[in-house]
Amino acid sequence: MRSDANIAGPMTDPVPGPRTESMGEDVSRETPPPMDDTPIGRAAQLAVEALGRAGEGLPRPEQTRVMVVANQKGGVGKTTTTVNLAASLALHGGRVLVIDLDPQGNASTALGIDHHAEVPSIYDVLIDSKPLSEVVQPVPDVEGLFCAPATIDLAGAEIELVSLVARESRLERAIQAYEQPLDYILIDCPPSLGLLTVNALVAGAEVLIPIQCEYYALEGLGQLLRNVDLVRGHLNPNLHVSTILLTMYDGRTRLASQVADEVRNHFGDEVLRTSIPRSVRISEAPSYGQTVLTYDPGSSGALSYLEAAREIALRGVGVAYDAQHAHLGAQNDQSMVEGI
Ligand SMILES: Nc1ncnc2c1ncn2[C@@H]1O[C@H](COP(=O)(O)OP(=O)(O)O)[C@@H](O)[C@H]1O
Ligand SMILES: [Mg+2]
Repeated sequence: MRSDANIAGPMTDPVPGPRTESMGEDVSRETPPPMDDTPIGRAAQLAVEALGRAGEGLPRPEQTRVMVVANQKGGVGKTTTTVNLAASLALHGGRVLVIDLDPQGNASTALGIDHHAEVPSIYDVLIDSKPLSEVVQPVPDVEGLFCAPATIDLAGAEIELVSLVARESRLERAIQAYEQPLDYILIDCPPSLGLLTVNALVAGAEVLIPIQCEYYALEGLGQLLRNVDLVRGHLNPNLHVSTILLTMYDGRTRLASQVADEVRNHFGDEVLRTSIPRSVRISEAPSYGQTVLTYDPGSSGALSYLEAAREIALRGVGVAYDAQHAHLGAQNDQSMVEGI
């Protein structure tokens, strides 16, 4: 099902022909993004080249895909997945916005975005109806990547939202009013199922659940899935779990492959073929305000996120993902652990 028309240029249109009005920027999108002059930008370019498909590009979605990265457990890789997938999609040529919806602001930190208390943030958008465009910042070093940061104020928003009108759909409204063309919006949720997460579930059509390959991986997921059903039934009929990503996969343990099998049996096709290895590089990158794509572009962590991004982009336009052509450094139903 892979048609050359679909992989002809960076984030090419799924259907050749003029772009819709809403996406704009026809001409500039036909050519690869300019090679960045910064060392980090060059390194990132190398990561794409390391995959052997520089300039191959990926099909662009016909409409902006809003993906909610959720799992009420903490520490399963939500933030890591949000920032690294977003950077990967941007490196593949897409325009991507990360919305940081966790008061911890870890996604903002990892993207090198200032988010001290005075910075205009997603709190102002949700509580004071500030336009999203007034808080979005470009991410340094990654062309096409943007971030709406979270500040510590957001910790109070769960409670402040309760008494506001349209409290569940404030993020959705803000996104609808945002006029910049985007291919993807990735929303990094807090580790809870409160009003912040509900706002994300109302705003997005797709839920992406990162699952850590640990013993209790599936525990508690029922609650998230029930919430997804509730939101679908009452507030957002389009909502569905589109993507499951196995994270922190340690191929040396039998447990990891058992958990992976269990998740695949349970969820089937939603589970990406690519899984993310446990990698020191992935965990080091945020302390430098970087994604692993710029921190260590050739690492297995960087390559596996690039590959996961490719799989997501191809699925979005109904093109079969060909794992055989995946880069060897990426994780495809197999174990490989970076030297730790
Ligand atoms: N693939 C990975 N390999 C190694 N460490 C990882 C990986 N993914 C995430 N981590 C680390 O695990 C911790 C939790 O990840 P994080 O993305 O913050 O989870 P969440 O957002 O779900 O709370 C962080 O310290 C992060 O650096
Ligand atoms: Mg997080």
